[in-house]
Amino acid sequence: MEIGDDCFISHGAMFINDLFTVGGPAKGRRDLWRSSKIGNQVSIGTNATILPVTISDRVVVGAGAVVTKDLLQSGIYVGNPARLLRLL
Ligand SMILES: CC(C)(COP(=O)(O)OP(=O)(O)OC[C@H]1O[C@@H](n2cnc3c(N)ncnc32)[C@H](O)[C@@H]1OP(=O)(O)O)[C@@H](O)C(=O)NCCC(=O)NCCS
Repeated sequence: MEIGDDCFISHGAMFINDLFTVGGPAKGRRDLWRSSKIGNQVSIGTNATILPVTISDRVVVGAGAVVTKDLLQSGIYVGNPARLLRLL
């Protein structure tokens, strides 16, 4: 996982790296593990779940959001699955 500068990861936020794509945990198969890339000035709200995605600079992920896709525009995203609330 990569994370940029000036980010804030709130309590309870979780980063997923095993998608269970083979019907269950990948166990020791590191080739199946996926990574997230987080840009600069990203704030991730309490209890958000981040699947393996890319998040660009200046993004806010709302509390409890489940991020299933790349967030490539600077903005505020909320919900499950996370959707753009407004641009920043
Ligand atoms: C996402 C967030 C930044 C939005 O704040 P905001 O811009 O003030 O948004 P508002 O409160 O005006 O809400 C706008 C809409 O988004 C919804 N919304 C706000 N936060 C939401 C969230 N986390 N999940 C789902 N929907 C959310 C509101 O219900 C509202 O919906 P409506 O238009 O249908 O009424 C904020 O609510 C949030 O979740 N911040 C995370 C804070 C956090 O985790 N801090 C940790 C340290 S204490």
